[in-house]
Amino acid sequence: MKNFLSVQDVPNLMVLVQEALLLKKDPFAESHLGRNKTLGLIFFNASLRTRLSTQKAAQNLGMQVMVMNVAQDGWALEMADGVVMDGDKVEHVKEAAAVIGQYCDLIGVRSFAGLTDRAADYGEEVIHKFVQHAGVPVLSLESATRHPLQSLADLVTMEELKPAAAGRADKVKVVLTWAPHPKALPQAVPNSFAEWMNRADGSLGPVEFVIAHPEGYQLAPEFVNGARVTHDQREAFEGADFIYTKNWSSYQHYGQVLSKDPAWTVDAEKMALTNHARFMHCLPVRRNVIVTDEVLDGPHSVVIRQAGNRVCAAQAVLKHMLLDLLYA
Ligand code: CP
Repeated sequence: MKNFLSVQDVPNLMVLVQEALLLKKDPFAESHLGRNKTLGLIFFNASLRTRLSTQKAAQNLGMQVMVMNVAQDGWALEMADGVVMDGDKVEHVKEAAAVIGQYCDLIGVRSFAGLTDRAADYGEEVIHKFVQHAGVPVLSLESATRHPLQSLADLVTMEELKPAAAGRADKVKVVLTWAPHPKALPQAVPNSFAEWMNRADGSLGPVEFVIAHPEGYQLAPEFVNGARVTHDQREAFEGADFIYTKNWSSYQHYGQVLSKDPAWTVDAEKMALTNHARFMHCLPVRRNVIVTDEVLDGPHSVVIRQAGNRVCAAQAVLKHMLLDLLYA
């Protein structure tokens, strides 16, 4: 694995999930692998889980880690080519990425969608510029349209918790549901979750994947990719094994908040329709907006385990990137 930007970079999902679970059991089993290697973590946006879990994962592999909140501490970066830089942008990403590549063996980049220009966001300019100019492999810490480290941790969590009866014959029912939020949020987490779920057959077992959202919140077709879509949240919840909850802003009316309907908040009455489903969310989550306290604090909520699994997921990815660096 050279770069890690999406599920397309993963040669074998089942192998990666199993490796993450092995690293969870024995986090220091590969502590020699990252010796004398440096990971740079570059954040254009805020983070709690991604920053700390990726740092810990790298340290477990023996790597050194440098973290930079580039939006606050760095020079304002120009991304466009061929511009006259006589405005407020001080440094071009061509030099910035190349210089960071001089100090690091691997670079992680977090850069969210701006939510004003769909073509620009879905073109993934920032992370692609780093891939183009850094001269070293790049992993996504959440880009404009995807959050693959989160999705891998989600899949690891589901592998740990899938119903025992879900053998090779019974389908695991996974529901991705939209829930209300006061602000416009990117589509990166739901896009990525959908993309990984559509590849999860064979690792998780047979999967019935359903996406529930109000009218106007369809995800981009390349991410839905044949999953069943419904506007009836209750119908979707019936018999579900996992309820993955997330808000996102509209893709069609790009970046707009079309609904704040509290009828879409996940509550105990809706969870009772499921097959004792596990409640999942990537965090951070707004209590009693996205989900009620009762569900989030209840016995079926696995959000803390999910966040914990960010470490072994990142470690499995970094392990593969280091192996590629060392032996390719
Ligand atoms: N889930 C997630 O990526 O959390 P942070 O934004 O805190 O990193």
